[in-house]
Amino acid sequence: MPNKTTRRTFLKRTAGSLLTLLGLSSGGYYYANKIEPSMLGIEQIKIEHSLIPKSFDGIKMIQFSDTHIGFQYTLSQFKKLANRINQIKPDIILFTGDLMDEPNKFKEINQLLPILENLHAPLGKFCIFGNHDHGGYGSDLYRNIMEEAKFEVLLNQSSPIRLMDGSRIYLLGIDDAMLGQPDLLAALQNVPNHHFTILLSHAPDLADNALEYPIDWQLSGHSHGGQVKLPFIGALIKPPFAQKYPEGLYTLGTEQKLTLYVNRGIGTTRLPFRFLSKPELTIFTLKSEKA
Ligand SMILES: [Fe+2]
Repeated sequence: MPNKTTRRTFLKRTAGSLLTLLGLSSGGYYYANKIEPSMLGIEQIKIEHSLIPKSFDGIKMIQFSDTHIGFQYTLSQFKKLANRINQIKPDIILFTGDLMDEPNKFKEINQLLPILENLHAPLGKFCIFGNHDHGGYGSDLYRNIMEEAKFEVLLNQSSPIRLMDGSRIYLLGIDDAMLGQPDLLAALQNVPNHHFTILLSHAPDLADNALEYPIDWQLSGHSHGGQVKLPFIGALIKPPFAQKYPEGLYTLGTEQKLTLYVNRGIGTTRLPFRFLSKPELTIFTLKSEKA
């Protein structure tokens, strides 16, 4: 009997310290389930490049990603986020995929549409497909709602952003790597040489392919920044195609040919937790390197 108690106590202690280590004590659980998922980190990134025309100086782009509405993230939270985005007065809004967690099961599309419609950006709203936008035969649902909300869906295609003086940069979007058919060559088809190009790809690890093409920056999501990260251990789960580049800024190639930015996303999926990886909105400000 004493042995059993000792063993039980030992097991309890081990489990207890493991749970503490994992940050899943009751306080940690509450924090990861309720507090951190409702936080918002606003990251400010400068995009400086010699191909950016001078007239683009100060143009502001907001990227949001991976809302996964309907899993843990709610419509009322999304409405607040949309108001926040509008307050920042972006010139361009970019959504990098995974709008609804399960598009075919989501019953409140009628309430989601006006929130997306109400997002305002004078130079355009653009989006791409994430794996969840294709999941459960959701592709048409996603495309329809985004187009109705006046987002341009970039599915292996490009769109120029033109200013009044005729100067241009190009936005490119490719399909999702897991459940779609990304085609960089198709996306580049109408892009002339020597123009600044920004690629939207849900999956960050496709940057290794993008490096082979005339692409200057890539913006991605998908990883959720790991969603749950542990001190000294890092991300618990990294999804396929977000293994190599899970979060933040990376420069690839010689002479920093391609810059990749990976946004941590807004919502959660699979597990209703975020830990050391709070939701993110990214504001990019363009700057010409020309004197
Ligand atoms: Fe996602």
